[in-house]
Amino acid sequence: MRLPPFELLLGLLLLGTLNASADTPLKETYAESFEVGVAVQAAQLDRAPESRLITRHFGMVVAEYQMKANVIAPREGEYDWSAADAIVAFAEANGMRVRGHALLWHQSTPDWFLAGGDPAAIRARLETYVHDVVSRYRGRVFAWDVVNEPVGDGEGPYRDNAWYRAVGKAYIDWAFHAAREADPDCLLFLNDYGTERKAKLERVMGVVADLLDRSVPVDGVGHQFHLGRRQTMDGIHEALDAVADAGLVSHITELDISAYNDPGSCFVNRTGCEPELLDDEIAGFLAEQADLYHAVFEAARIRPSVSAVLTWGLHDGQSWLNNFPLRRTNHPLLFDRSLKPKPALQGLVD
Ligand code: XIL
Repeated sequence: MRLPPFELLLGLLLLGTLNASADTPLKETYAESFEVGVAVQAAQLDRAPESRLITRHFGMVVAEYQMKANVIAPREGEYDWSAADAIVAFAEANGMRVRGHALLWHQSTPDWFLAGGDPAAIRARLETYVHDVVSRYRGRVFAWDVVNEPVGDGEGPYRDNAWYRAVGKAYIDWAFHAAREADPDCLLFLNDYGTERKAKLERVMGVVADLLDRSVPVDGVGHQFHLGRRQTMDGIHEALDAVADAGLVSHITELDISAYNDPGSCFVNRTGCEPELLDDEIAGFLAEQADLYHAVFEAARIRPSVSAVLTWGLHDGQSWLNNFPLRRTNHPLLFDRSLKPKPALQGLVD
């Protein structure tokens, strides 16, 4: 019998390898070291092509915005659980875990929480809200971002937000204590962005140390890791090490890698923002992005202290970065706008 030519055999072999990798669920690739999750919107769970990708590649979901206070409790004493319930039910039906995000975030706090300015009333409203949300999902949401982005970027350690102006840093303690009381088994996180930058990391760890000193029940730090082009790995390693050294767990909670690396002014007043990528620049970016995704997943894989990595959305068309810090086409996630796996996903499952 004549053997097929060598090139043909090699071709078939390569094709086999490619298929094998495209078929490998992302969550299985890292199963031995951490769980892999994705931020979702309730509506996309009803769209089969998206929900199939979600259940195939991810073992965990987090609500991109539908478990925030402005959605769950737009008015005092009135709850709308519909979207949050749908997300939790989807996860349970598919054997996935749920990360809760976020009990308190200054940007999603409806005005009624802080109305009147009386600290005792503010505390009571916060404790009632945290109690009601955490108990509703007790045993079903395994980890909560209790306070999101409480750390400042400038002078003092605390962000100068409406909560801080009303009651000082005490709001952070109240939220954590109320969450622990409502579900003693849930993991409680302080979640923030920019921990990959030294100055911010120091402030975050200072705030965490202060909480632990006063026996406030914090179990872990969530690193958002909204990264940009040309991000180096040093800061990522330092952030994960600092949390492990403090004896806490790390979750990488909102990973995405923007095609842009904007200066600070772009975030302050939208000046100096990088121009939209040209078509012939996209492939080069996607290759760089694949390397960086791989390096971040490796940083998580080698550390027992990192137990979850979640991307902030499923596909590029869903990403908040198409609108922040300005409206501009972005390509930050693992699947493209037509739901095709990008080089970054290939690199992770290979
Ligand atoms: C963003 C969502 O992606 C948007 O859909 C929403 O309108 C605003 O919030 N840091 C966080 C997330 O902790 O909650 C933010 O999510 C992105 C920045």
